[in-house]
Amino acid sequence: MNILLTGGMGYIGSHTAALLASAGHRVHIYDNLCNSNIGTLDRIQKIASQVIGFTEGDVRDTEKLTKVLRDEKIDAVIHLSGLKAVGESSQKPIEYYANNVQGSISLIQAMQAVGINTLVFSSSATVYGDPVYLPYDEDHPTNPTNPYGRNKLQVEEILRDLSASDSSWRIGCLRYFNPVGAHETGLIGEDPNGIPNNLMPVIGQVVNGKLPLLNIFGDDYETHDGTGKRDYIHVMDLAEGHLATLIWLQSNLGCHTFNLGTGSSYSVLDLLNRFEEASGQKIPRQVVERRPGDLPEYYAKADKAEKVLGWKTKKTLSDICNSSWLWIKNSKKS
Ligand code: NAD
Ligand code: UD1
Repeated sequence: MNILLTGGMGYIGSHTAALLASAGHRVHIYDNLCNSNIGTLDRIQKIASQVIGFTEGDVRDTEKLTKVLRDEKIDAVIHLSGLKAVGESSQKPIEYYANNVQGSISLIQAMQAVGINTLVFSSSATVYGDPVYLPYDEDHPTNPTNPYGRNKLQVEEILRDLSASDSSWRIGCLRYFNPVGAHETGLIGEDPNGIPNNLMPVIGQVVNGKLPLLNIFGDDYETHDGTGKRDYIHVMDLAEGHLATLIWLQSNLGCHTFNLGTGSSYSVLDLLNRFEEASGQKIPRQVVERRPGDLPEYYAKADKAEKVLGWKTKKTLSDICNSSWLWIKNSKKS
């Protein structure tokens, strides 16, 4: 397949591009580099041992995107581009709606102009909001609590409306849980600009001396050790989930939603202890107040993706920590 990845130079996109190209697909990345670096392209090519196409452009530039879709004879699109910082989305909601919702409409228009109708969309478990029950299955009510989450839900709704209006579309909305880890070569990994919010990139910055210590947001939750629990999914398992979805969509029409998670959860201390084992490094830490808006625990019911797509996660928490450590060590050197 000829596959276009919007946002393919970012954390999840770069790993997915490497996997798809290694599996024999022709990959073209379309990214405006607002949260990524052109140097990643060489590293993806090194992993895949082949040339990866790249166009620098904004997903809202419908004309440019249409031309790339046509010129590259694209068969399917994975739409990963967007802004993703939850806190920032409350401070700059219009920027988020413009980039994430308007950007998705622009992509759909470009695909319509060229007659491409296979699309995989990067959604998020954040669409569920406060749990009514756990684990979250795909039928759990959706009630996102911030503009970023509402962006994701609105795009999903647009895609469902699109599919209802035109039965030729083949769409997968993938609700990611907590993506972590890096490629096993240590060549690519998560490399956020500025001060990160998510746990693993914060640990990375502590190791690299950019942050003095890790603040653990609360140890008085009703969990086995009092710290928050999450469904951490290895980014390469996530990449495999995209490939499985694309293959399944080749013989299935309509708009379909899948959780991509492991189905189990680990606490902050579970992850931290395993990371210390993997790295041999002691991570300075202190317990501080709970972070507003944080949930004690959430995790996926991951059965639908396994039953329908034949996909499930294979990697362990040790794989996550070993690969993250390799990446953090490599990025410390460069
Ligand atoms: P990322 O920021 O590393 O990658 C996003 C990429 O999109 C970046 O390379 C950025 O330059 C590009 N981009 C942003 N706006 C663009 C625009 N208007 N036009 C073209 N390119 C643009 O993020 P990621 O972690 O790789 O996330 C990928 C997708 O998955 C996002 O849509 C995100 O919301 C979603 N997601 C991420 C997580 C997570 O924890 N990482 C969880 C759930 C969902
Ligand atoms: C965050 C987002 C969520 C997004 C997810 C993707 C918020 C409110 N939610 O969720 O929308 O889908 O990332 O991965 O931002 N922790 C610390 N110290 C830190 C950072 C985190 O103790 O410096 C703890 C948190 O309290 C939490 C766990 O680590 O218990 C994971 O946090 P994080 O990586 O930010 O992910 P989420 O909170 O699940």
